[in-house]
Amino acid sequence: MIIKTLTDHLVDKVDFAAYQESVNEIHKAIINKTGAGNDFLGWVDYPETYNKKELEEIKKWSKYVRENYDVLIVCGIGGSYLGARAAIEAINGTILKGKPEILFMGQTFDPTYVAECLEYLKDKKFAINVISKSGTTTETSVAFRLLKEYLEKRDGVEFARKSIFATTDANKGALLELCKKEGYVRFVLPDDIGGRYSVQTAVGLFPIACAGIDPEAILKGSAKAREDTSNPDLKVNECYKYAVIRHEMWAHYKKAVEMFITYVPSFVQIGEWWKQLYGESEGKEKKGLLPDSATFSTDLHSLGQFIQDGSPVFFETTLYLGKHRHEVKVPHDEDNLDGLNYLEGRTLGSIQDKAFEGTIKAHTEEGGNNNVVLELEEMNPFNLGYLFYFFERACAMSAYLNEVNPFNQPGVEIYKKNMFHLLGKPGF
Ligand code: PA5
Repeated sequence: MIIKTLTDHLVDKVDFAAYQESVNEIHKAIINKTGAGNDFLGWVDYPETYNKKELEEIKKWSKYVRENYDVLIVCGIGGSYLGARAAIEAINGTILKGKPEILFMGQTFDPTYVAECLEYLKDKKFAINVISKSGTTTETSVAFRLLKEYLEKRDGVEFARKSIFATTDANKGALLELCKKEGYVRFVLPDDIGGRYSVQTAVGLFPIACAGIDPEAILKGSAKAREDTSNPDLKVNECYKYAVIRHEMWAHYKKAVEMFITYVPSFVQIGEWWKQLYGESEGKEKKGLLPDSATFSTDLHSLGQFIQDGSPVFFETTLYLGKHRHEVKVPHDEDNLDGLNYLEGRTLGSIQDKAFEGTIKAHTEEGGNNNVVLELEEMNPFNLGYLFYFFERACAMSAYLNEVNPFNQPGVEIYKKNMFHLLGKPGF
């Protein structure tokens, strides 16, 4: 099993058997696509049914980008960028910048960020992957207008046409119209897949491939997770087990917050992706857990006090990594003024494991907090594809257990309406 849901550190009991019948019913609704929001269940079978020709296009054009550009700007927001960002950081790390360097725009109005990105691009040869299902998201559209104008003025309209790659709806939207007019290379976000479930489509896979990560391995990992979740029996389905624990924490033990914990700095963006997935899918009709995240041991020196001893409104879900990509040993020091020679020769991974064990003991035995541990063998593109699908499937199960539609986001529209009215957009 690539991800195991460990229950040994739950302080409160979860009666899994009591959930089996509802889980079976929801499982059927997911695979037969009969639940609420069923026209957005395309992601369930996508790792098998994906367009094979498009994958070849993704491979071809990502090779072209890798060979010809210094920087790829991924221009998108929410589900149209978080998955790619999470994947690229989780696999390639946060320090060593590969070529092309991947930058993200279109996720903010902040003028300083936008101006600094444009300044940074001054002496760089760059391509753009603009990603928007609707083609009308304001943050993304404004950034793309700026980038397109900048590129066209600096490198010419023809060069810009060859350097812009668009990912959007197959049949409708402003971006699709622009693609047709300009002849941009175009990838598709299928109709029946929403942004936050789209990392395994071209939305995630094109930027991921441009970063040198094998997109097919991500899909194969997701396909394996799909296979592993095909039996709803809670004794063997690690994914549904996690969903049931979440539901029990919220519905029975009245927890308001789930904290996603990782000990790996390059997994911070997985936490950001996970927050969107669960927040937008579950947080409706005044229901749901607030998804929060922290990185240990870093945040044990900031949030640690609250987690140990603050108001008990949360439980923790730790993504535990079994094997590290690199190892580092503590060196010997003749003077030993820092008193660290007792650690001489020990790997940082083994020290971190002790930090994990000590923390979980402190948070459960003394703090009284429930801890779920999701044990991931190791991080690689296949396992990451597995992890994405695992969380997506668990999210659908959790939201259906809460009796909400996992695939809409009516609350997101309200700020937009107010903003459009205040900006004087016609019709608002
Ligand atoms: O998950 C979602 O549906 C959202 O986060 C969208 O992806 C986000 O709002 C961007 O939308 P669009 O792709 O239409 O620009």
